Amino acid sequence: MHVLGLMGSARRDGNTNDLLDVVLNAAHEKGADVEKIVLADHRVEHIENCQVCKQRGACVHADDDFDRLMAKVYAADVLIYGSPVYWYTVSGRLKVFLDRWSCELYLKSNDYFCEKMKPKAGGIVTVQEESTYERAASCIEALEKTIKYAPGSTYLGYVLGPGGKRGTALKHEPTLLAARELGRKAAAFRPAP
Ligand SMILES: Cc1cc2nc3c(=O)[nH]c(=O)nc-3n(C[C@H](O)[C@H](O)[C@H](O)COP(=O)(O)O)c2cc1C
Repeated sequence: MHVLGLMGSARRDGNTNDLLDVVLNAAHEKGADVEKIVLADHRVEHIENCQVCKQRGACVHADDDFDRLMAKVYAADVLIYGSPVYWYTVSGRLKVFLDRWSCELYLKSNDYFCEKMKPKAGGIVTVQEESTYERAASCIEALEKTIKYAPGSTYLGYVLGPGGKRGTALKHEPTLLAARELGRKAAAFRPAP
């Protein structure tokens, strides 16, 4: 089982990163190979929605890091999407990367993309300063729908932890328990034959 974390926070040492590490470490303890992409360490341009790729067979941003990162996404069995709640929704860094997934639909096809994504499972790690689910709902629900986009794919659930100051989430035992549980579920996941 290969579990890939997509870390979409601006802070490399923030609460999103901490919780994603808890999930990945729990998965690793249960025998999974784990890897993390820190999106802030890569250059991913915004989608242009130009669809020029349909004519020339390559993206206008073919020189950025998108293709290399997307190859890792395709190779993974489980994706853990990590994003802080920024303005009630997904962080820009993660959203810019996810928007580029539409380029795969244009350059290849929707069927190609869904075939690649449908055997996978996905889970969500998010943090926020406010304390109610309702305030994080747009972030969680957008990512849940993204995970379920390819018919047949599996949703493993979400972890919503307290954010704000660095280290906050790691002090919150219920969040740690939920993060470890998500990691164990990720390691136990088996795609349908
Ligand atoms: C641009 C920005 C927007 C934010 N918007 C919200 C928000 O809508 N609701 C909320 O509860 N917290 C919000 N926060 C607080 C963050 O969710 C919180 O500080 C979180 O811990 C940041 O993630 P990190 O610890 O991984 O850096 C925002 C923070 C930033 C920087």
